[in-house]
Amino acid sequence: MRRLVKNIGRIVGIDTQARERVCGADMDTMQSIEQAWLSIDGERIAGFGPMSEMPEGEFDEVFDAAGGTLFPSFCDSHTHIVYAGSREQEFLDKIHGLSYEEIARRGGGILNSADRLQECSEDALYEQAMERVREIIAMGTGLVEIKSGYGLSVESELKMLRVIRRIRENSPIEVRATFLGAHAVARDYVGRQEEYVDLVCEQMIPAVAQEGLAEFVDVFCDKGFFTVEQTRRIIRKGAEYGLRSKIHANELDVSGGVQLGVEEGALSVDHLERTTEAEIEALRGSRTMPTMLPGAAFFLGMSYPPARKMIQAGLAVALASDYNPGSSPSGNMRMVMSLASISMRMTPTEALWAATLNGAAAMGESRDFGSITVGKVANFFITKPLPSMEFFTYAYATPLIESVWLRGRQV
Ligand code: NIG
Ligand code: FE
Repeated sequence: MRRLVKNIGRIVGIDTQARERVCGADMDTMQSIEQAWLSIDGERIAGFGPMSEMPEGEFDEVFDAAGGTLFPSFCDSHTHIVYAGSREQEFLDKIHGLSYEEIARRGGGILNSADRLQECSEDALYEQAMERVREIIAMGTGLVEIKSGYGLSVESELKMLRVIRRIRENSPIEVRATFLGAHAVARDYVGRQEEYVDLVCEQMIPAVAQEGLAEFVDVFCDKGFFTVEQTRRIIRKGAEYGLRSKIHANELDVSGGVQLGVEEGALSVDHLERTTEAEIEALRGSRTMPTMLPGAAFFLGMSYPPARKMIQAGLAVALASDYNPGSSPSGNMRMVMSLASISMRMTPTEALWAATLNGAAAMGESRDFGSITVGKVANFFITKPLPSMEFFTYAYATPLIESVWLRGRQV
């Protein structure tokens, strides 16, 4: 099937060099074409160019973009969208002054979601998650990473990961799965943290690998959760089973998780609200992608990561939503870009690279996703006509997306 999209007001997110990531000062430049066409062959981008050079004739379908802007789909490299129920009671607790850590210490937080997940059937969990998947597709996400981590027992972790596999099989969105058994110490193991780490390493990881349910392993390496040494042990065990690592680091404290991630060759270190010069220095020259989740800083009222300092140090940075019931109940990547601009002083161009190509790199997927490049999967969305690319980030709550295309088809 060959398709043509014509009368595109502007194509943004073009990368003719097919880079793996965009670093430092380069993040603020982006190629675009005005008055353009784009062609698709099967699932992939076949070509694009100005309307004055539009190919004619040989297409099965032609779509008129009516002057809208075409953006590459978002690549959201950090979510927890498989969960049961919601946690607005904790939202009220926070309004009344409790912190995220205090709520967790009282048995709320992740353990609250684990209790609900335990009681929820696999089918009901799937239905709830699919509703969120449809929501993020409509908001422009085309590739998403989804974590387990509300199971906290062998059976329930496998249940979550099987739900993620079902999403992958039944939705047009591209899915990558992460095993996050070490998200919190399960209730039955409170006070026996090392034994819980044994369970993660000796039983959960082998079981996950045996069913081929995950690509990545993640650990919440932070104050009150897992130590650097425990994290190292878990990600090394994951590596033995072919799982690449991602780490929740430096959200609540200067945890050492960033340095560990760099040493162990993690794909990404995520959160980074507590980042000092030492972390930036450690990341310089490494392949580990610093990934910022401003939706969590916004929702929990935390300080934001020092994005400008990281970019000035020449680093590539990624943005992700962290969509989860406790710290970021939204998967809206456009809102994430706006928060990055408003609160971290990233330009809309930097924010777009961080939410697309650099997000794909944080999943090891930039060969196929994250930019408008011939040969990549045709994942993109088209907006209403916009006065500029920046308008999309600036008018942060105005509905602007008109059509969404995944694997070369309008969904
Ligand atoms: O990335 N920080 C750890 N995990 C999630 C929150 C999980 C939850 O509160 O349910 C996060 O913010
Ligand atoms: Fe998270």
